[in-house]
Amino acid sequence: MMQILQVTDTHLYGSAGGRLRGVETDSSLQATLDEAFARVQNYQAVLVTGDLVQDDKAGYLRFRSFFGGLKKPVLCIPGNHDEPEVMRKELNCEPFRICGAHAIGGWNFVMLDSYDPGHVGGRLVKNELARLDAALSESPLHAMVCLHHHPIAMGSRWLDGVGLADTESFWKIIEAHSHVRAVVWGHVHQAFDGTRGNVRLFATPSTGAQFLPKSDRYAVDSRPPAYRSFELHADGRIDSSVHWVESAQLRQTAS
Ligand SMILES: [Fe+2]
Repeated sequence: MMQILQVTDTHLYGSAGGRLRGVETDSSLQATLDEAFARVQNYQAVLVTGDLVQDDKAGYLRFRSFFGGLKKPVLCIPGNHDEPEVMRKELNCEPFRICGAHAIGGWNFVMLDSYDPGHVGGRLVKNELARLDAALSESPLHAMVCLHHHPIAMGSRWLDGVGLADTESFWKIIEAHSHVRAVVWGHVHQAFDGTRGNVRLFATPSTGAQFLPKSDRYAVDSRPPAYRSFELHADGRIDSSVHWVESAQLRQTAS
């Protein structure tokens, strides 16, 4: 069994005090990581599924200061608030891996780039779909596929307008590879745990403010920051939980 951490939508700014939807993204990430590393000590990798920064290139330096000292790979993909080229440049050092496919502990993590310039929603361009297909063809390992944008409807009208475009092409590839065990995303700032056929589906709340699930219009939820842990078994089974960081909520309402 191998443990993996997922944190997502950190939305960092270049300075520590930056706030998004009332939450100081820097201190809520700190509180989230403190709790995550205290609870899960034997993790083999950290997944960061997009929106590392909030439209602020200087946020990558802060991101590096949070994650740069980790001794395990930090697998990152861009979200709509990222700048992929700057992200690649600023995180072109250990322990970061940007996109790609990575074999870790008997599992293959396929990290997709769904960034679509000028759009809040996402798209997997032809080359990225081909890369997904190739990565799954080349490795027989249990696969976890990660992307920023949701590839299924979340039952929330405004969010479903800014999900992944052309989900059919994506699912056609996933369906062609029976060793895909899970598809994991960020972007929706809420917890979701479902299935599609034999594939587990996971969305993970932000390390900052959350969105209200099932809301037709944009609405912020009052739930605290969160992260997700995965236990990935050698036979392909997955146990996973979302951990809400209540201590961060206290800080949030106190400020
Ligand atoms: Fe996003």
